[in-house]
Amino acid sequence: MTDPLTPVLSDNWDTDRSWTLAAYEQLDGYGALDKALGQTQDDVIELVKSSGLRGRGGAGFPAGMKWGFIPQGDDKPHYLVVNADESEPGTCKDIPLMMASPHTLVEGVIISAYAIRANLAFIYVRGEVLHVVRRLQRAVQEAYLAGHLGKDIHGSGFDLDVIVHAGAGAYICGEETALLDSLEGRRGQPRLRPPFPAVAGLYACPTVINNVETIASVPCILANGADWFSSMGTDKSKGTTLYSLSGHVNRPGQYEAPLGITLRQLLDVAGGVRHGHELKFWTPGGSSTPLLTAEHLDVPLDYEGVGAAGSMLGTKALQIFDETTCVVRAVLRWTEFYKHESCGKCTPCREGTWWLAQTLTRLEQGQGTEADLETLVDLCDNIVGRSFCALADGAAAPITSSIQFFRDEYLEHLRVGDCPFDREASTLFAMAGASA
Ligand SMILES: Cc1cc2nc3c(=O)[nH]c(=O)nc-3n(C[C@H](O)[C@H](O)[C@H](O)COP(=O)(O)O)c2cc1C
Ligand code: SF4
Repeated sequence: MTDPLTPVLSDNWDTDRSWTLAAYEQLDGYGALDKALGQTQDDVIELVKSSGLRGRGGAGFPAGMKWGFIPQGDDKPHYLVVNADESEPGTCKDIPLMMASPHTLVEGVIISAYAIRANLAFIYVRGEVLHVVRRLQRAVQEAYLAGHLGKDIHGSGFDLDVIVHAGAGAYICGEETALLDSLEGRRGQPRLRPPFPAVAGLYACPTVINNVETIASVPCILANGADWFSSMGTDKSKGTTLYSLSGHVNRPGQYEAPLGITLRQLLDVAGGVRHGHELKFWTPGGSSTPLLTAEHLDVPLDYEGVGAAGSMLGTKALQIFDETTCVVRAVLRWTEFYKHESCGKCTPCREGTWWLAQTLTRLEQGQGTEADLETLVDLCDNIVGRSFCALADGAAAPITSSIQFFRDEYLEHLRVGDCPFDREASTLFAMAGASA
């Protein structure tokens, strides 16, 4: 079997003390920065545009296009903000990246800030992961001492300061405009758009917000060229990316591969579903993306392929559940998370997630009626597209898809009058909740 993996971002993760500047520089670290500083800002934006790099934070928006929205020649300061909040159940790629190779991110930050003409950048990190905050702070300090940050970087005349900011532990602060409010010292709640952050973002100034993996992908594009990057992946989903396999899989972890690989191929390299068991359902991109089943093993894991299958690529967090898992309980667990994390700003989400959790709790205990299934679908219908931000759409996704694929399992709960699965036997729910 040819190896389908293409380690680029993760290529240096197993080198000795990979997180240090010395280890990073030994592998030509900060060489891409010189290449960037030797070009005009607009050339760097063009290069990223033609590479086809799309945002890795969930929506897949083209990164170069986003940078191109920043007004040029205005008198305002520009800001770069890296979204390192990573709080969705199942999503676990940015934290390993920042732990193993924080300098890849820092180098990406400097190149990206140069391109959008920003002299101040923020890395907004999920507050609970203190070890990541410390590692990033150390990497930023090393970069200052080596002249990669600060005044007149590499003699180019470009100045940049980077601030590592720890969030206060709310999932909604990963939503980019809530993140900006939080960074400004306010309670994190999404902002009305327009204006979009590219026009009026942090402190009402033009701001680019990108995910950790997006920004960390920039140095390799500068180093190897746009054609090299776009030669990997599929027609509209270019490049290599981190797929995170978790749950009932023999070798969970980060698997870097070209966009468009299938779950079947990834499971082959990850040792398959745990021995003696079979795949029941999975999430292609974290708990906010509609569930898929064993029928979807050959769906290309790119934005278009997963979309055509009725779900979303999201954060490429592939959570694997075998036949021992009660889908109703898994969905209830996620719904409790969304209910807890709803920021309360808009009624469909604030009230709707509460009612979803109530109804699902009843069903999981086998105490509801079949009409509760229609109530759930109706509630979801009134939430999706009618809420202020995408948190609520994400809350509905596992519910509607689980009813679509596993209606009989819901009905079995009603028939038995309890959950037909062994609740004590499954430790996976505790794991799913723990990542939140
Ligand atoms: C509730 C919610 C939580 C989010 N959490 C994150 C997150 O932790 N990290 C992230 O990069 N994007 C997150 N996003 C998406 C961001 O709003 C935004 O689209 C992303 O940071 C843009 O970066 P990209 O273009 O590089 O993907 C979240 C969105 C929503 C609605
Ligand atoms: S959808 Fe939910 S999280 Fe988003 S603004 Fe409304 S209440 Fe807040």
